Amino acid sequence: MDRKVAVIGAGNVGASVAQYMAEANLADVVMVDIIEGMPQGKALDLTQAGPIRKYNCSVTGTNKYKDIKGADLVIMTAGLPRKPGMSREDLLNMNADIVGSAAANIKKYAPRAYVIVVSNPLDIMTYHMFKVTGFPANRVCGQAGILDSTRFRAFVAMELGVAMADVQAMVLGGHGDTMVPLPRYTTVAGIPIKELIPNDRIKAISERTRFGGGEIVKLLKKGSAYYAPAAATVEMARSILLDEKRLVPCSAYLTGQYGIKDIYIGVPAVLGAKGVEKVIQLKLAKKELSDLQKSAQKYKGVLKEIGY
Ligand code: LAC
Repeated sequence: MDRKVAVIGAGNVGASVAQYMAEANLADVVMVDIIEGMPQGKALDLTQAGPIRKYNCSVTGTNKYKDIKGADLVIMTAGLPRKPGMSREDLLNMNADIVGSAAANIKKYAPRAYVIVVSNPLDIMTYHMFKVTGFPANRVCGQAGILDSTRFRAFVAMELGVAMADVQAMVLGGHGDTMVPLPRYTTVAGIPIKELIPNDRIKAISERTRFGGGEIVKLLKKGSAYYAPAAATVEMARSILLDEKRLVPCSAYLTGQYGIKDIYIGVPAVLGAKGVEKVIQLKLAKKELSDLQKSAQKYKGVLKEIGY
């Protein structure tokens, strides 16, 4: 393969990303983790699934950052996951250290790479990655909006008993309790859900989406979700690697759009070969806009806690 993707962290999210990447034959994948033998073991296991799952890309594991050399794209998944009762922000200081040191290594060994951050608290860690690498903003983005939207889509499909793929949704804002599901932009085969689902149920589904990650943390008791987060990440990776120009919600750097600047937050963006190629500015309703700005305001405060 002439495309190489480095996945930092070979835990549940990282290994699932590697699996989905391989199954889509998207790129050669190298997984990096500090635990000796673990990324190598998972990579070998995934390689041995290749003949059955019909992929030819290579999947390797390493404990050394130098092996990410030449990566076109780096996916940052390392970090501690939440335990029941924790918010994503509770992970702040521990994960800031992990993301900071990964960022320094990405800068050193893969200075031309694009980066997708998945580590939590997502929008904060994406900003931290942007600052420590010093990469241009279009080359650094965060995965969250597609995950939050796919949760919304799944709940709408379950509610109506329609095909998952027919539901389109838009969830903006920070990847946390302040996220902003936008039912107005949510449709089933082009039909606004307001014509299909009563208001109180839309509200309940929006609430369930907002706490969708926490619902899974509570069920799993240790660790957090990984299938949907990994699937969402690979959707973004694919759009960048294949220059698909998908219009998706993701955590992008704002320079005044929506009245917000110098922060990463979930907005609709076009992802292509140049990373975040465009941030789309929707004409939001008053309440939608103020919710988005409130979400950004909250993260400004959190950024201060790690020295920004
Ligand atoms: C979630 C975590 C991974 O939303 O942020 O499931």
